[in-house]
Amino acid sequence: MKGATVTLYNRPPEVQNFIEVTLALMAELAATPEAKAALAGIRDGVKRVDPQTPRSPGRQPACAHLGAALAHAAQTPQLAPLCAALEAAEPHLEWTGEERNGLASGSYAEITLLGPGGHEERRDVWLGLSLLAPHVRYPDHNHAPEEVYLALSEGDFWRETSGWFTPGTGGTFYNQPSVRHAMRSGEAPLLAIWALRRV
Ligand SMILES: [Fe+2]
Repeated sequence: MKGATVTLYNRPPEVQNFIEVTLALMAELAATPEAKAALAGIRDGVKRVDPQTPRSPGRQPACAHLGAALAHAAQTPQLAPLCAALEAAEPHLEWTGEERNGLASGSYAEITLLGPGGHEERRDVWLGLSLLAPHVRYPDHNHAPEEVYLALSEGDFWRETSGWFTPGTGGTFYNQPSVRHAMRSGEAPLLAIWALRRV
């Protein structure tokens, strides 16, 4: 790590700011009592900082769509501060996820800020974002923590209890623990943030 200083217990300030801006906005936009309760718990949880895993910041091929996705999101005034915070934090973050999810090259990338395999390894709260190139369907999956999504783009989401739905740019929704869910992009890239809490 020539020339780099690794401070194990500090999040980079830009990352800390992105976490705070994101969770505050998600709490504001959350539409249901379940989502609001989850976000209150997540905001409380992130006050504790766990050790930072040294990572290699960098992009994946699907990140070719990031600029377009952020430009679209920033047209929604409420989302503009979040987009600016993400642009500031992104150089500190490592995109991953394509191979692990068995998706074709250039179709998918994600950042896990907090959570298993993330920049901050922990199990109680997770926070990250997913970017899908146009016309990609992300596989069905589930996990024990409850989850709130914030859509930063158009695109469709699915859960086994309700089928496909389209929250729209700035839309939020709640997935109960262990429910199977998925997402798919249309003509435009899909960008979404996810925040999870173990219950
Ligand atoms: Fe999920």
